Amino acid sequence: MVNWTHNLSPLRQMLMVNKDQNSVSGGVFLQAAQTRVEACLAQAIAQCQASPVLADAMAYSCLGGGKRIRAALVYAAAYACQVETKQLDQIAAAVEAMHAYSLIHDDLPAMDDDDLRRGKPTNHIAFDEATAILAGDALQSLAFELLASCEDDINPQQVLKMVQVMAQAAGAKGMVAGQMLDMAAEQQSIDLPALERLHNHKTGALISASIQLGAMAAGDVTPQELAALQTFGEAVGLAFQVQDDILDIESDSDTLGKSQGADLARGKSTYPALLGMESAKSLAQELLQKALDSLDVFAERAIHLEYLAHLIVTRKS
Ligand code: IPE
Ligand code: IPE
Ligand code: MG
Ligand code: MG
Ligand code: MG
Repeated sequence: MVNWTHNLSPLRQMLMVNKDQNSVSGGVFLQAAQTRVEACLAQAIAQCQASPVLADAMAYSCLGGGKRIRAALVYAAAYACQVETKQLDQIAAAVEAMHAYSLIHDDLPAMDDDDLRRGKPTNHIAFDEATAILAGDALQSLAFELLASCEDDINPQQVLKMVQVMAQAAGAKGMVAGQMLDMAAEQQSIDLPALERLHNHKTGALISASIQLGAMAAGDVTPQELAALQTFGEAVGLAFQVQDDILDIESDSDTLGKSQGADLARGKSTYPALLGMESAKSLAQELLQKALDSLDVFAERAIHLEYLAHLIVTRKS
């Protein structure tokens, strides 16, 4: 089992950061989340004692990049539910490790065949295809190890439920299902409900799980709070992928850190392709409003979730 040395008080400090709601304070919160999750991931990868090439490939895709929005959602949901455990870092690192695995596999030649990710060559280009597949596999296992080792501080029965939430979000009924739908929908025209299903699975599931997991660390979240977070997660999860589709058209490769126009080149089914750009943008705004409306039950404890909801639909990369 991994030994964790993190101290609770800087975490408490981070979550209490700047209660006045503006983008500067949100930025401070996000930066603190990024720093904490990066340290936890670096420690976890080092403790894997993987062979040097495998360790390098895992670190290459998991450290030193990424917006860490899923990690920030863990901390933000935990703040909303008044969670106090130093093991939030492990939960945040678990979702980011799962996400990093999904990106490595998503970029493989057999999938999206992309050569740029987080401003660097993709894993299979920097290493080779076999190493990329295995680094992804190892990061997925690491995600479960990180979650499972939360039992130091969180009731083991609750940890078991958290492992189930992660498995369902990532697996054949969640993200992997979405990736299958995404592949099948290349060069096809699918209708709006089918596109929503695709996006909810490939991207929404892990984003929703990040929020649920942050809250579940509390152990005593009310059904009302859990239902609110469910609605919030579904709305921001879908909005995240709608914005990703928009940026693939409107941004540039330098800003994105990935190849702009990749969806068009592969004939992907996306919201702008199906609805047109203006309607895709309106949908993102509607989803933002729906997400914000769901948070009333948390009053001012929703501050970090609100910030992240705004960020998800206004981000430029
Ligand atoms: C990209 O996710 C993949 C999608 C699910 C759209 P992010 O945009 O969160 O990627 P990073 O982690 O910041 O690189
Ligand atoms: C990726 O969706 C979803 C997962 C990695 C599960 P995309 O294929 O749209 O992500 P990007 O645009 O390559 O980051
Ligand atoms: Mg893809
Ligand atoms: Mg892709
Ligand atoms: Mg995309």
